[in-house]
Amino acid sequence: MNPLDKYIQLIQDSLISCTLSQISIINPLRKDASIRKVQIKPIELKEKLHLSFIFKHQTKDITKNYLVEEAIEHIKTDLTDNFSQSIISTTSGEYHLNIFPNGKIKLKHKPNSKSAKPNLKHDHEKKSLLASKDPIWNLLGFTNDRGLIYKDKQKKFRQINRYIEIIKNNFEALESFDIVDMGCGKAYLSFALYSHLTKNFNKPIRFQGIELRKELVELNNRISKEAKFKDLSFICESIENYQPKNLNVLIALHACDMATDDSILKGIKGNAQLIVCSPCCHKQVRKSLKPEHAKNNINKYGILQERQCEIITDVIRAGVLEAYGYKTKVMEFIATTHTPKNLLIVASKKSMEPSSPDSHKISELYQSLEDHGIENHYLLDKLKIHGG
Ligand SMILES: C[S@@+](CC[C@H](N)C(=O)[O-])C[C@H]1O[C@@H](n2cnc3c(N)ncnc32)[C@H](O)[C@@H]1O
Repeated sequence: MNPLDKYIQLIQDSLISCTLSQISIINPLRKDASIRKVQIKPIELKEKLHLSFIFKHQTKDITKNYLVEEAIEHIKTDLTDNFSQSIISTTSGEYHLNIFPNGKIKLKHKPNSKSAKPNLKHDHEKKSLLASKDPIWNLLGFTNDRGLIYKDKQKKFRQINRYIEIIKNNFEALESFDIVDMGCGKAYLSFALYSHLTKNFNKPIRFQGIELRKELVELNNRISKEAKFKDLSFICESIENYQPKNLNVLIALHACDMATDDSILKGIKGNAQLIVCSPCCHKQVRKSLKPEHAKNNINKYGILQERQCEIITDVIRAGVLEAYGYKTKVMEFIATTHTPKNLLIVASKKSMEPSSPDSHKISELYQSLEDHGIENHYLLDKLKIHGG
């Protein structure tokens, strides 16, 4: 890799590991160039990582913010056409790039000249992501020994961080944490959340991951032991059959189709104070479209029918949680470029006492199904069986 490509790679790595403090681009090639210097910093805008450029002219500064991909293209152009020197300042040191008139390029690593900490503050927004240097990421195979995240793990890393970022304030009010992660798979979310909670709160914690696949359960338990996460364990069980003893937080990230409904049901029946689900595929409702409705105008086009059914599925899930006394929010937790399954249902209630459902709200949900020509919704059916 030539030094310029390596330099760009270092910028990308430092962005992913949240260690980038600043990039300076200096020494314009043309003596009469209007822009004398460019200073670049990472910022979060509307929940997306951007790079903020200050173009320093003789008499004025102009600020522009770019999404990362576009920003990288600007930096490449500046370094090939307009400037001959650049410095990346990270929390672990500086990288100096020098481009000589004969085309030779030198890249040097130097210790920090001053303590540099990344600061993503902008417009009073503050985001603190779980550090990629946390040893758990290395044990999970996300990072190399320098704490840099492998390319193929970057999306999942941001996804998990955003999930935790959004729900972390909900843990303040809880006296203890009795958490279940339903359909935990490789349990990246369980490990990251456990690590976050034990580092930031001094409260009793018991954390269990529920997963059907035995080999994943064994792997997760091995990693938990290695990480010395003594209160995090994994159980090979179906969500449906799992009987939680005490439960105040239920989380699920992309539990397949009706597994999300089973998770919500367990949360409601276990009187969880916090239920957070990011739904996965939505097949059940689509299959139960009445034939006459499946052919009407709204359902005429396959992809639109699919989206329509997805929306109804989640509207009913959120509505059920509301009917059971949960304050419920539905939001996108990450850009669709990270995952198209980016919806998050966050439901919380103050008391751990069982609440009986608001029958008026439940009948409204049945009416919604009727209006959309849907035979049945798995979660509503299950609640009926369980006397809800
Ligand atoms: C799409 S993966 C998501 C894994 C993990 N939560 C994540 O986001 O990385 C869904 C996981 O749920 C598990 N699963 C699906 N249905 C389940 C059920 N009824 N009971 C327990 N686990 C289930 C699958 O085996 C799979 O590992």
